[in-house]
Amino acid sequence: MKITFLGHATLEIKINEFSVVVDPFISGNPFASEVDIENLKPDFILITHAHQDHILDVEKLAKENDSIIISNFEIVNHFQNKGLKGHPMNHGGKWNFDFGELKYVNAIHTSTFPDGANGGQPGGFIISANNKSIYIAGDTALTFDMKIIPLKYNLDLAVLPIGDNFTMGYEDAILASDFIKCDKILGYHFDTFGLIEIDQSKAVEEFKKVNKELIIIKPNEHITI
Ligand code: NI
Ligand code: MN
Repeated sequence: MKITFLGHATLEIKINEFSVVVDPFISGNPFASEVDIENLKPDFILITHAHQDHILDVEKLAKENDSIIISNFEIVNHFQNKGLKGHPMNHGGKWNFDFGELKYVNAIHTSTFPDGANGGQPGGFIISANNKSIYIAGDTALTFDMKIIPLKYNLDLAVLPIGDNFTMGYEDAILASDFIKCDKILGYHFDTFGLIEIDQSKAVEEFKKVNKELIIIKPNEHITI
């Protein structure tokens, strides 16, 4: 799996011939100005929750690429009502898609659409394909529910929010990495706006102190697992 960071909480994951885009928020993110949204051709769009900074570019991308939108029931319903394709899930459920197995897992956060409409309950995803598994936490607090994940999954990578204020910060992300038994963490959801600004080098250093790896990459940079 090739995981490209596209700023804030947006990822593109290439699995075999498939492009899976997570939480597209590019056109509204000044720190993602070098990301060319026209280059994205998602076969699937995964949405963790309904906040603006996770759904802004869903409609455009899904319309232009005939993408299948995957999220909780309420969010998928919202986009299906606009004529877009979707596959609804709910917490604890998994499904085998063309790109691999996907499980929708718990997150502690909120999920109202920008206009106040009900966006269901927020979640995260575990993608398993080609004998690798990655956990994308979405916006979430540190939660004991994370301890369930390693009972079933041997994670190769976890993508965790580290920006604090609206989600866990990097200190709690270190505890989360214990809970999920994964020491390789890609940090996201930081520095995009004032309330989530962090000291990046301190965050990396704190992970190092406990023999864990916090990967911080710039928009358009990628890692492969
Ligand atoms: Ni949010
Ligand atoms: Mn967010």
